[in-house]
Amino acid sequence: MGKLISRCNLCAFLFLCAIIALFSKNSSATDSIKAGEFINASTQILVSAKQKFVLGMFNPKDSKFHYLGIWYNNIPQTIVWVANRDKPLVNSSAGLTFNGGNLILQSERDEILWSTTSSEPAENQIAQLQDNGNLVIRSWSENYVWQSFDYPTDTLLPGMKLGWDSKTGLNRTLKSWRNQNDPSSGEFSFGIQLDGLPQLVLHKGQVIKYRTGPWFNGRFSGSDPLGDTAVYSTKFAYSAGEVAYSYEAISSLDIIFQLNSTGILLILHWDDGKKYWHLKYTLANDPCDQYGLCGNFGYCDSLTVNCNCLDGFQPKSRDDWEKFRWSDWCVRKDNRTCKNGERFKRISNVKLPDSSGYLVNVTTSIDDCETVCLNNCSCLAYGTMELSTGGYGCVTWFQKLIDITTVPAWNGQNLYLRVAADSVDSWKLIVGVTVSVASLIGFLVIVVCFNRWRRRKVKITTYEFQAQENDEVEMPLFDFTEIEVATNNFSFHNKIGEGGFGPVYKVINYKEENLSEPNVFCQNEEEKLRASEVIFLSCSSIFWWCMTTVSD
Ligand SMILES: *[C@@H]1O[C@H](CO)[C@@H](O)[C@H](O)[C@H]1NC(C)=O
Ligand SMILES: *[C@@H]1O[C@H](CO)[C@@H](O)[C@H](O)[C@H]1NC(C)=O
Ligand SMILES: *[C@@H]1O[C@H](CO)[C@@H](O)[C@H](O)[C@H]1NC(C)=O
Repeated sequence: MGKLISRCNLCAFLFLCAIIALFSKNSSATDSIKAGEFINASTQILVSAKQKFVLGMFNPKDSKFHYLGIWYNNIPQTIVWVANRDKPLVNSSAGLTFNGGNLILQSERDEILWSTTSSEPAENQIAQLQDNGNLVIRSWSENYVWQSFDYPTDTLLPGMKLGWDSKTGLNRTLKSWRNQNDPSSGEFSFGIQLDGLPQLVLHKGQVIKYRTGPWFNGRFSGSDPLGDTAVYSTKFAYSAGEVAYSYEAISSLDIIFQLNSTGILLILHWDDGKKYWHLKYTLANDPCDQYGLCGNFGYCDSLTVNCNCLDGFQPKSRDDWEKFRWSDWCVRKDNRTCKNGERFKRISNVKLPDSSGYLVNVTTSIDDCETVCLNNCSCLAYGTMELSTGGYGCVTWFQKLIDITTVPAWNGQNLYLRVAADSVDSWKLIVGVTVSVASLIGFLVIVVCFNRWRRRKVKITTYEFQAQENDEVEMPLFDFTEIEVATNNFSFHNKIGEGGFGPVYKVINYKEENLSEPNVFCQNEEEKLRASEVIFLSCSSIFWWCMTTVSD
């Protein structure tokens, strides 16, 4: 069966090659349109110079609508951009013209379905589909007067930017499809929140569903996958002219960030051998990711997936808390926090509280941050932020402390919380949340699974990049407790992704004394890079591993 499928893939690939060859021979496939030119969008398409991307009309499965879009030439069914997502073409063919400096998509009935809004006509202008998937309008110079990268749909390609640019005045965000077969604007959007500290936020309509922490030391705190990884590097530009997030693939892998129609951000890379999009990370998928889950003055413990009150606070009402009504359920135990000898309690390794819509104050000096906060009785907490000018500044919170999560050390920041003099060492009230039941069940499944695996001492089949099929590799066996420790009790912060096969865990080198460094269980750097593929255990869990037996 597997053989049959791969043979079919080969057929499809050869067929595709034949088509490409056909196109290039009679050169009807070009990468650009000149001013005044018309192309029949139903029959002709643009293909980028190195034939990586295609611009053309597509018709989603089970839909009567047609859309102008951009997709990968050699990867089936991966639409990365849609022009007329909210004004589809029905019962007609369409033409694409390039007139007066603008691209216009028109139906046979002369209805304008989509057009670019930009440019003044200039000499020698062309509209061109580039090999990075960007459709641009430009003169001979490389300055783009319009580019599709400025109008993302649900996919962030390498080199594409999310966020605000002062030149265009645009704040670029991803917007999900309505459903898998309907590219019209869906409910979810993902982009940079411009007020407060710079952070990425996922909205459902107007409501925040998830946010990253602020950008700090090369990553958004609390959101590991949005920083550098072994396969892509990320960039955050933060200046008066722009606030923008982007990434670049390190190798020649095809990588996309895609906001799916259920509001999950997927980070995918194309496995050319097996011909499928391999799920690398998901974002906004974990219980603690739910925005403001634990209410004001509460925090979500990502290890246990429990809501707790911050130090110095306690649940307002036992009744509410038993009914899982967490919003604003934490209140101060001791109100003597104004000129009463109050102090600051450091809370380590957290995703800092939300800053958008709440009063925060940013000053440049980090040294007297504590004094600044102490001298103003409505200041609740302070912390450190990265300044656009480089260096660090002081941020102080007023009004609310919301959406705090404890995270692994390398991924968190310190929050200094104002507490009454004698409540620094307080008890903690832990509330079991329904989600912890779910994680317990998951955990038990893994325990059972793992025990069975251990008893059978099965060999483990590896699926390496170019490993030969059915290579059997004898893996060392570990105690369940060892794995438990190494994966931080199967913490979802060690989880690097999930596929049809089950969860994938990143394994900390727990034998090291110092746990603050993220480290997969490897002996050297080279192995670590190669660990970007995973190993299947015979049960449903997968652990990230390091291979010494990679066949190149
Ligand atoms: C485009 O080509 C199709 C098929 O050849 C034809 O039916 C249609 O009328 C053409 N449309 C335009 C706008 O020329
Ligand atoms: C499209 O064509 C079909 C069949 O000819 C017709 O039933 C339908 O009403 C048409 N739709 C529109 C929007 O013109
Ligand atoms: C405390 O800080 C807030 C926010 O910056 C400000 O509105 C208020 O006037 C300050 N209060 C005092 C007493 O300085």
